[in-house]
Amino acid sequence: MDRQQLLKAAKKVLDHNDRGSYTVPAEKLYPHQWMWDSCFIAIGLRHTDPRRAQKELISLLRGQWANGMLPHILFSNDRSNWKQRHEEALINPHAPNGVITSGMTQPPIMAEAVLAVGEKLNAGDRRIWYKLMFQQIVAYHQWLYDERDPHKTGLVSAIHPYETGMDSSPVWLDQLHRYAWPWWLTLLDITRLIRLSKVLRRDTHFVRPEQRTRDSEALSSFLAIRRFRKLSFSGPEYLKSSWLPVEDIGFNSILARANTCLEQIANAIGEKLPAELAANARNTVNGLEQLRDQETGLYLSRRRMDKTPIGQITIASLLPLYSGAISSDHARKLVEYIRDDQWFGSHWPIPSVPVNSLNFNPWRYWQGPVWVNTNWMIWKGLKHYGYYQEAKMLRAKTLALAARGGMSEYFNPLNGRPAGAKNFSWTAALIIDLLND
Ligand code: GLC
Repeated sequence: MDRQQLLKAAKKVLDHNDRGSYTVPAEKLYPHQWMWDSCFIAIGLRHTDPRRAQKELISLLRGQWANGMLPHILFSNDRSNWKQRHEEALINPHAPNGVITSGMTQPPIMAEAVLAVGEKLNAGDRRIWYKLMFQQIVAYHQWLYDERDPHKTGLVSAIHPYETGMDSSPVWLDQLHRYAWPWWLTLLDITRLIRLSKVLRRDTHFVRPEQRTRDSEALSSFLAIRRFRKLSFSGPEYLKSSWLPVEDIGFNSILARANTCLEQIANAIGEKLPAELAANARNTVNGLEQLRDQETGLYLSRRRMDKTPIGQITIASLLPLYSGAISSDHARKLVEYIRDDQWFGSHWPIPSVPVNSLNFNPWRYWQGPVWVNTNWMIWKGLKHYGYYQEAKMLRAKTLALAARGGMSEYFNPLNGRPAGAKNFSWTAALIIDLLND
């Protein structure tokens, strides 16, 4: 497939998934609007249709809660999947009218997307665009710090795996097994009666079960949402009472990068970040270092309650590269792991879990497969730290994956075969962005 054909194939997917003002991640599996998906989608759309890219991001703001929270899902009228709709929004006083949203957030990549779309507008339109979006993103970042980092450590906590966008990564499975696993779930697992819970799942109608989360883990995730819901989705209440929340290295690396983007947006329109937010942003840069494991040089998420590192290494351990906030020495160490074929240097890079991990599974969702969005973030990080050769190679292999296997949700890192949903929007969008580099 040459460049033009790949571009055409990617555009076709985005057209197919276009619902007017927003784009669904994949037709049947994900029939609503997801936050970080829409951000990646806008980053691709800016090359083909900047106005439509703006619309994609504006439509996310429909869901913003009065306290500043940007929710991870804005539900459409499709009732077939992600059934917890309705339950969420109505019970928190901050929830918006007119649109039903989830009660939790997703990685804060919005500022990056707004900045990137602005680059494709003329100077006048760019200014208008940044002015239009600035205050609402500030409100979102402020909410993240107020609700999720009340003690001003610089590290915000995620309260559920869905918030990190890496739904069934080993870090969170570890947490679910410890803190969201009632005795009867163990019993269902042992007796294999857990198979009955399949009737509650829709995702496995569209994607092979061995490529999705296991039944017991899916149920445990669901129970964790129910617990949060009992507290009306109030972060501070939940942080006080639950051992589930995590100072997630992926989420905080993305936040650090987003703070930099927000500052650039502010500069472009002659504004300043509110002093408290600027101070919090500086704390996050320092906070990332607290998550660095001195022995290995890798970064680890840690449990919020007792600050213990969670020893599971995943692709999130490399995202400090994307943050741009770590030293070049520390970045170099991460690049060594990317090159090493015992770790992240698989034939088709970069696996979501290193190949030497006991939890590595080349097919299962966030437990080994390659995702185009994490490759894209690391590609940006490699360029930022001057690793142009590695960035070039990663870009070429990512394009090759899509050329061979289509715009799939994820790919097997050993043989490059496609997995998960077909015609997945952020894969298509980020392929367009990579092609335009
Ligand atoms: C899955 C992914 C998440 C994504 C969503 C929609 O839940 O883990 O990151 O946002 O699908 O594509």
